[in-house]
Amino acid sequence: MGTINGYASSKVEDFRWWRRIMNKFVMMDALLVGHSVIDTEHAGIIGIINDMVDAVQDRDLELCEAKWLQLQEAINQHFMNEEVIMADLYYVEKQHIQAHRKIVTDLDAIGKKCITIEDWGHCMENALHRIVDNILNHDLGFSKHLTGIKYKDY
Ligand SMILES: [Fe+2]
Ligand SMILES: [Fe+2]
Repeated sequence: MGTINGYASSKVEDFRWWRRIMNKFVMMDALLVGHSVIDTEHAGIIGIINDMVDAVQDRDLELCEAKWLQLQEAINQHFMNEEVIMADLYYVEKQHIQAHRKIVTDLDAIGKKCITIEDWGHCMENALHRIVDNILNHDLGFSKHLTGIKYKDY
């Protein structure tokens, strides 16, 4: 029984873990918000996460770290842009902004603890889940708002 980022792992669990990270993430229509900048940035973030899937599979620690920094930059930039876009269209949800701050702080903390390739794999998954969770629980609320104000830019 080994430990990866504090998670106990048996050989069977390790196998499941590798299978999961071998699957790249595909941006589904259900995650589209309907704002071209936001959707493009989400796709860009998912793209960096998929690059990290490759880096983890290749067991390239240097590339994992470089991609993680790129991912953090893209996420920070996206949250800033998204908050401005939403405020400009009179949609401000405090909890959403708080959720953004928590993601930034948490990802920064977990990234600093990464040593092994398995650590990076878990970081990558963690980032993916948090981003998708943010889209599902918050960004899609903005999507309804856009429909309500008949906003259409693509
Ligand atoms: Fe977003
Ligand atoms: Fe968001």
